[in-house]
Amino acid sequence: MKGNSLISIEDLTRDDILEILERAAEFEKNPNQDLLKGKVAGVLFFEPSTRTRLSFETAINRLGGKVVGFADAKITSATKGETLKDTIKMVDNYVDFIVMRHHIEGAARYASEIAKHPVINAGDGANQHPSQTMLDLYSIKKTQGTLENLNIVMVGDLKYGRTVHSLLQAMRHFNPTFHFVAPNFLKMPDQYKRYLEVAGIPYYEHTELTTDVINEADILYMTRVQKERFSDPLEYERVKDVYILKNSMLANSKDTMKVLHPLPRVNEISTDVDENPKAYYFEQAHNGLFAREAIIAKVLGL
Ligand code: CP
Repeated sequence: MKGNSLISIEDLTRDDILEILERAAEFEKNPNQDLLKGKVAGVLFFEPSTRTRLSFETAINRLGGKVVGFADAKITSATKGETLKDTIKMVDNYVDFIVMRHHIEGAARYASEIAKHPVINAGDGANQHPSQTMLDLYSIKKTQGTLENLNIVMVGDLKYGRTVHSLLQAMRHFNPTFHFVAPNFLKMPDQYKRYLEVAGIPYYEHTELTTDVINEADILYMTRVQKERFSDPLEYERVKDVYILKNSMLANSKDTMKVLHPLPRVNEISTDVDENPKAYYFEQAHNGLFAREAIIAKVLGL
């Protein structure tokens, strides 16, 4: 890993990724370990979250550490005009590592350049969400028995969805084939397609979510249309319900196929999918606890 912070999934080598996944499996067997005794984490969420913040905080508690921080920047001195730089310098005085989510792309990298202590990016704008990717990889390996040679179908908001950007980059180590299903307005950005081309990884683009595409999938990775990233509310209204996965659409999918979603879900997965054994998104979120324990152990060298 470059430095001690985890800002982008690209900070991790293939070996780093596999090591974190092995460690996550150990934490799943034994989540309560005193590795963080005497340590304090600053958990700074400038953008809303349920899973990422609570699973990081649970991970820190289960590892014997303590948490300070905020879930809403409106209750901090940022509302009085304090800069991100000064906020990070202050928090860095109090804690042993920082977990930060911010709406601005690059904010986590910036924080890591200011802080003396490690910073873990818990999502920066539409850019990266590396801890989500580690729990996604953990979920894929756990359900498929391997990360190698899988057909990954990504559906929905591939433009603003940071989870698909990080996951695509991580999967390059494992010889995947990608199918991208998105309306033209939300298609995978060119920079990520060029990235795959340079890496020699095949990808196919679709505008319809057909059963033909679903039936090819080892992993069907659904995503929410990221309302908060749209500058034009009418544009959001036009695309918000563009794909809705229904249980009947899974009828001829592979027996081993799993439906993943980083959550929160809005309308893109009908609730009739939830009871299908191929629906794995709630277990996936549970896996976040173990993946985040492993990430914390890695960045702190524990
Ligand atoms: N997957 C994810 O990042 O969820 P939250 O926004 O609830 O943290």
